[in-house]
Amino acid sequence: MSNSYNIAVIPGDGTGPEVVCEGKKVLDAAAQEFGFKLAYESFKFGGDHFLATGEILPDTAAEELAKFDAIYLGAIGHPGVAPGILEKGILLRLRFELDQYINLRPVKLFPGVECPLKDKGPEQIDYVVVRENSGGVYTGTGGVSMRNTGQEVAIQSMVYSRFQVERCLRYAFEYTRRRNKKNTLALCGKTNVLTYVYDLWERAFNEIGAADFDEITREYYHVDATCMWMVKNPEWFDVIVTGNMFGDIITDLGAITQGGMGIAAGANINPGGVSMFEPIGGSAPKYTGQNIINPLAAVCAGAMMLDTLGEFDAAVAVENSVMDVTANKLKHMGAGQMGYSTAEVGDLVAAGV
Ligand code: IPM
Ligand code: MN
Repeated sequence: MSNSYNIAVIPGDGTGPEVVCEGKKVLDAAAQEFGFKLAYESFKFGGDHFLATGEILPDTAAEELAKFDAIYLGAIGHPGVAPGILEKGILLRLRFELDQYINLRPVKLFPGVECPLKDKGPEQIDYVVVRENSGGVYTGTGGVSMRNTGQEVAIQSMVYSRFQVERCLRYAFEYTRRRNKKNTLALCGKTNVLTYVYDLWERAFNEIGAADFDEITREYYHVDATCMWMVKNPEWFDVIVTGNMFGDIITDLGAITQGGMGIAAGANINPGGVSMFEPIGGSAPKYTGQNIINPLAAVCAGAMMLDTLGEFDAAVAVENSVMDVTANKLKHMGAGQMGYSTAEVGDLVAAGV
């Protein structure tokens, strides 16, 4: 009997629907090749839906999405909607309500992809950032008083419980073990200034590491130094674990070292629930409908989805096919510069799975 999976699809805004379409093309090719089934149901959340109806996300959305085996997301963000409304109201709300407390972001330079770092190639850039995805400043804890006066005060706190920190660290240690590459986990923090929050992280890191993961080498870097080494010596890293805000920032830096937003994928993971897979670039509205956007980030997000569903061979096959396409076909990662249309890139990857 073959496995079958129900996938909720949120194509979203801008070029989201185009890249999701190519992602599904590749996923379907993988399903065919590896003998499993994928059934999709599409949800029209995003800027157009909001502008047409006034509804950002129905209150039942998380509950409904939780019934699926995975969620496949294109992009959220619309030029006609003020920044923050859709991001907070859809993307962040789903991450929180579905308790997707891990944001997994591989930084892997594929062959043939132009890298802005001097003398660095695929050998040197291959690590994964485990970004905590449920806490920190993203909880919105804080407030503002005396707004629009000269006395205005604004506070937004970095909130972490031991529970949140521990579950993230455990995931990161286990992930490092499963990856089995350099068996090195680096904590990225700021213990010299954030002496409460990152002290909590560091103590939990060392306690959990010593007790249950003694074969994993532990390292620590301040976040500012992490940025420096990600540029100067990316080959040092295997797995990096960090809080939500630092993880957001360093993964954009990581993404540009692996060829940019056309290729960088991420997974919002609830290890005991439903996870959501997305290209980490935005909706790129100016390229909408032109069939020129690079769909590889969405394709790679699809590969991460297959891995999380347990279709490991299919996940590897998709990634290998992407690497073949970057190495031997695409001229460039940028929109309109690939030498192929969006749909043709999807065809190429699908044919190689
Ligand atoms: C990301 C994005 C989001 C984040 C925004 C759109 C809210 O930058 O997924 O990295 O900050 O997490
Ligand atoms: Mn970000």
